[in-house]
Amino acid sequence: MHNRRHRKVLRDRTPALRYGAGMFTFAPAEGQTKADLHADMLEAAIALTQDEPDAVANMANLAALMWQFLPDLNWAGFYRMIGGELVLGPFIGKPACIRIPVGRGVCGAAAATGDTQLVPDVHAFPGHIACDAASRSELVVPVTRDGAVIAVIDLDSPLPARFDGDDARGIEALAEAVAFRI
Ligand code: SME
Repeated sequence: MHNRRHRKVLRDRTPALRYGAGMFTFAPAEGQTKADLHADMLEAAIALTQDEPDAVANMANLAALMWQFLPDLNWAGFYRMIGGELVLGPFIGKPACIRIPVGRGVCGAAAATGDTQLVPDVHAFPGHIACDAASRSELVVPVTRDGAVIAVIDLDSPLPARFDGDDARGIEALAEAVAFRI
C-alpha cells in the first residue's frame, strides 16, 4: 500500500511527515500559527489517505491525526450518515453515543443543515448531546459528497471556546479533501 511513490510524496510534500520502518512519524512544528498547523495537518491527511481505498482505515488515521495536531481535545472523530441517521465511526476519546438522529444535537444540526457548527459553549446549545461530561466546546463539520452529507467530523474540547474560525476553515478544508476517501 505504501509504495515507493507514496513514500516519496510523504518526504517531498512536507517536512512534518516522515515515513520509515513501516511507521509514520508526524510532528507538528513548535510555535506554529493555527493556520500553519491546519495547513500541515491537511497535507498530512492528503498524503496519509491518498493510496488507501478503505474508508475505516482512513477515518481511523484521520481521527488520530486530528488528535495529534490539535491541542486540547477530548474527542475527535467521525459520525457517518447511514440509513438516514448518524452512526458512530472511528474516533479517539471516551466511548460515545452510537446513533444520532439528523437534527439532534450539534452533530445532527450539522447533518441537517450542511453547515459547520461552531459551539463555544455546549451548555448553551439547545439539545447538545453530552457524550463526555468534560466537553465544554465543540466543532462539527459536515463532509459532503455530490451535495449530500455523508458524514460529520466532530471535535470536542474541555476548554470553553476552544475552536475559532481558523479551526472551522481548517477542518472544512480537510473534510473537502477526504470526502471521497472515507
Ligand atoms: N456532542 C455531540 C454528540 C457526539 S459526542 O460529542 C462525541 C452532539 O451534540 O451532537
